[in-house]
Amino acid sequence: MKFVEKRNGLYFPTKEMKKIALISNKKIYKEARENPIKFWEEQARQIVWFKPWEKVYLEEPPYFRWFVGGKLNISYNCLDRHLKDKKDKIALIWEPEPLEEKPRAFTYYELYKQVNKLANALKKLGIKKGDVVGIYLPMIPETLISMLACARIGAVHTVIFSAFSPEALRTRLQVSEAKFLITADGYYRRGKIINLKQNADEGIKETKVEKVIVVKRAGNEISWNNEKDVWYEDLTKNESDECKPEEMDSEDLLFILFTSGTSGTPKGILHTCGGYTVQAYLTGKWIFDFHEKDVLWCTSDFGWITGHSYTCYSPLLNGITTLIFEGAPDYPTPDRWAQIIEKHKVTIFYTAPTAIRMFERMNGNIAKKYEFKTLRLLGSVGEVLDEASWLWYFKNVGKERCPIVDTWWQTETGGILISSLPGIGPFKPGFVGLPFPGVKAEILDEEGKKCEKGKQGNLVVLPPFPPGLLRGIYKDEKKYLETYWSKYGNKIYFTSDAAFKDENGLIRIVGRVDDVIKVAGHRLSTGEIENALNSHEGVVESAVVGVPDEIKGEVPLAFVTLKPGFLVSEKLEEELKEIVSKKISPIAKPAKIIFIEDLPKTRSGKIMRRVLKKILLKEELGDLTTLANPESIEKIKKVLGL
Ligand code: PRX
Repeated sequence: MKFVEKRNGLYFPTKEMKKIALISNKKIYKEARENPIKFWEEQARQIVWFKPWEKVYLEEPPYFRWFVGGKLNISYNCLDRHLKDKKDKIALIWEPEPLEEKPRAFTYYELYKQVNKLANALKKLGIKKGDVVGIYLPMIPETLISMLACARIGAVHTVIFSAFSPEALRTRLQVSEAKFLITADGYYRRGKIINLKQNADEGIKETKVEKVIVVKRAGNEISWNNEKDVWYEDLTKNESDECKPEEMDSEDLLFILFTSGTSGTPKGILHTCGGYTVQAYLTGKWIFDFHEKDVLWCTSDFGWITGHSYTCYSPLLNGITTLIFEGAPDYPTPDRWAQIIEKHKVTIFYTAPTAIRMFERMNGNIAKKYEFKTLRLLGSVGEVLDEASWLWYFKNVGKERCPIVDTWWQTETGGILISSLPGIGPFKPGFVGLPFPGVKAEILDEEGKKCEKGKQGNLVVLPPFPPGLLRGIYKDEKKYLETYWSKYGNKIYFTSDAAFKDENGLIRIVGRVDDVIKVAGHRLSTGEIENALNSHEGVVESAVVGVPDEIKGEVPLAFVTLKPGFLVSEKLEEELKEIVSKKISPIAKPAKIIFIEDLPKTRSGKIMRRVLKKILLKEELGDLTTLANPESIEKIKKVLGL
């Protein structure tokens, strides 16, 4: 069936699509705009609450609360409530990386039992409501089970991406003061076994972690500490598969997720139970147009917000099937991802532009080999999906049948805030579409005035703030106020993204206006990479900028000044790249290190990264009168051969 058609250069749902779509009438936007609080309140009734809220929304800018006084549990909503009519339905499919290994599937009832067993075991270890549990696991079912088990007993999970280095893990465990960590012996990546336990052992040094729960996944040899370590299997096997869910207050903490900001240290974004649940539930339902038989493959790792909201929580809240894959999408053959779509009859495929560009490069015209008959809808997230990649995705994966929802949001927003709805459209290459019903997004100029159509400005969110928006930064209120609520005052959420609207009000995202870069969709801070480089004994200082890359969207380049006695060499360049890989992750490695004498700085000593970027991109440098050392520019140009 064809779900989308082209009209006047835009794409719209077909009549057939409109017929099956959950939302196909534009009036939903108007109704939600007229009374957003009432809108969210009505939608929140689709969730099971143990106790109803007393007040829907309370605001004391820049703080706000949703469903005040309401009690609920997200794991109850993901599992228990489906047991009546979906007990034997597949909730989760896991595709391991080795082809010879069989996939695993869990029905809702099996998943319920697994989650309860672990929840009981965690309680026996002494984990209580409000305790922070670190989860450092690969893409295996136990990761999702661990998240839900924590949520069930009211423990706060903080998932740390398994490709993060021991040092990156340590910082996050230190800041969150986690006393417990769930990890695995190892996992498969590109045919190799990665020894995750070794990283975990290293990462928990100098932290408060008392117990490490270890999932047996790859069977690799690991070191063992009898006092701290305990096998997941031993811990859970004799536990009861019934565990009463904790009654969580709507505003109790559900999870902390660390993300990169402007400064060198990651910030722990706080998400609470009620608002997050409602937003994850509803945005998934309407934007992916979830239907009973859907199989969603959201390719995001659990370690990122997309993995939290649309690999784990939203599909389960909506009672559909979620698919997870352990390995790399191009291993062992470049079309592994395509095979998975066909093998598991995926109906909704949600991925990042980097992956789309990689598929394009490797698989070119895949149309001949794969029909992707089961696919109904495609999604994109994390960076700008450029027009050419949009069209390739539409034609080769969607076969010109499937709408593409390009979804804009952030770790901070908890759920999608801007996207077209599949039953309404329009879908326009390069544009993310309209704000979700009940969300007020605007584009403001530097003075805070609304930008006219076509004019670029800063993307902001206006009150009432979406239920899933962050409630704070863990133990750093100052940063919370400075980052989001200072640019336009405390009643306007500043996203740090530049954007503009077209003549129909559709939004196009231009990119970050701060020092955050998106490398292959991963959010990294230039400051964090600089900190890693500066820790090398030969480095005086460094400045990292993101430059465009055909596949990854952006890659970091580093300008470095050296101490006397340290000579520029390939070996030193390698050492510096390695230090970033070790301290953060291989994904953060600079593509190139440029050794220079002096970094351009303002009189107050601030490094002018913007000027460096302009030099690299051969753009007009503009006004340089604020520079304390303008002569540095010519020298840099010389090094670059410009
Ligand atoms: O710059 C925007 C970009 O990703 C940033 C948020 O990154 P993160 O917190 O890692 O969350 C990513 C997944 C939700 C945003 O500030 N971004 C996200 N989605 C899009 C996007 N840029 C363009 N188009 C998108 N659809």
